Amino acid sequence: MNPVIPTIIAALWLMLPAYITNASAAFFGGKTPIDRGIYWGKNRLLGDGKTYEGLLKGFSCGFLFGILQHLVLSGYITITPSFGIFPFFLVTLFCLSAGAMIGDLLGSFMKRRLGLKRGTPLPLVDQLDFVGGAWLLLFLGARAWFIETFSLGIILAVIILTPVLHLFTNYIGFKIGKKTVPW
Ligand code: CTP
Ligand code: MG
Repeated sequence: MNPVIPTIIAALWLMLPAYITNASAAFFGGKTPIDRGIYWGKNRLLGDGKTYEGLLKGFSCGFLFGILQHLVLSGYITITPSFGIFPFFLVTLFCLSAGAMIGDLLGSFMKRRLGLKRGTPLPLVDQLDFVGGAWLLLFLGARAWFIETFSLGIILAVIILTPVLHLFTNYIGFKIGKKTVPW
């Protein structure tokens, strides 16, 4: 088999908890801004698009979905890498979903510091902030597993495929009225 295909499958499988986290936060949304409406300088600290409800629902959905993935398939066939052995896979999944939410917050924090209002596009940051956050937390909390599992090929696949998937799912989110802008 073309080695690119297994790499892509492994990349998507490994990042799925982070993808579900991000998509669920947007799908469920919320009302209570994490920054409580406060400003830093002329701009909001994070903005109304970052809420407690979105954060908690996003994290919970991604984390639980990861457990499901792990129970159903992880490690049984070589094409879907394992999230680790019990109980360590729980740490891995925590880092993936909590990291995704932290990365998303950092992305919005950066956008506000650049003076960009909520929903203004910032290419690459919008699509990859949550990936960066997930990888940062994995590097801090599950370093050996992260280095062993995320080959260069997988990392490249994630960086290339995530923006494409992100734009596609956000367009769907926009069409079903869950997002105010299609990015
Ligand atoms: N969301 C939320 N709480 C979070 C993260 C996301 O409620 N912690 C919801 C919000 O409804 C948000 C939507 O998910 O509007 C999409 O997230 P994102 O695209 O990151 O937010 P934007 O509204 O585009 O704002 P920003 O400019 O800060 O990225
Ligand atoms: Mg964002």
